Amino acid sequence: MPRNPEEIVTEGIIEFGTGRESLVQLLTKVNEELSWIPTIAIEAIAKATRISVAEVYSVVSFYSFFSIEPRGRNIVRLCSTISCAMTGQGEILEALMNEFGIELFETTDDGRLTIETTSCIGLCDQAPAMLVNGEPHVKLTPEKACDIVRGLE
Ligand code: FES
Repeated sequence: MPRNPEEIVTEGIIEFGTGRESLVQLLTKVNEELSWIPTIAIEAIAKATRISVAEVYSVVSFYSFFSIEPRGRNIVRLCSTISCAMTGQGEILEALMNEFGIELFETTDDGRLTIETTSCIGLCDQAPAMLVNGEPHVKLTPEKACDIVRGLE
């Protein structure tokens, strides 16, 4: 059962404080725990840091790893930049979407999985690569990627 977003923000304030410099840390904390940042958390962060809600939203929309839409407990981010694109990213994405019955940027009905693409994650020499809940996986094949994602809780 996910925790109350305001409770997470309160905990983050104790940890990081309420200065402007704590904004990204607070957003990251909520995003990591819930896989997205609900409006109620954005409002609580804005109030605590004395930054306008509009500005907090602009920071959230700037960073692609933040989401204001609910996402799955597990987030697969397949790199779609040139080295990965040229070494089979398209086939891997196709295999993942077929295996788990969702399109890109969709979440499975049971809330288990969201598949996204991302720009380069710095593992070009081991392409194709993806992040699964922030953990890197490299030298992927469609089979290897599906095996990794099948093994998630
Ligand atoms: S292009 Fe995919 S990790 Fe750099």
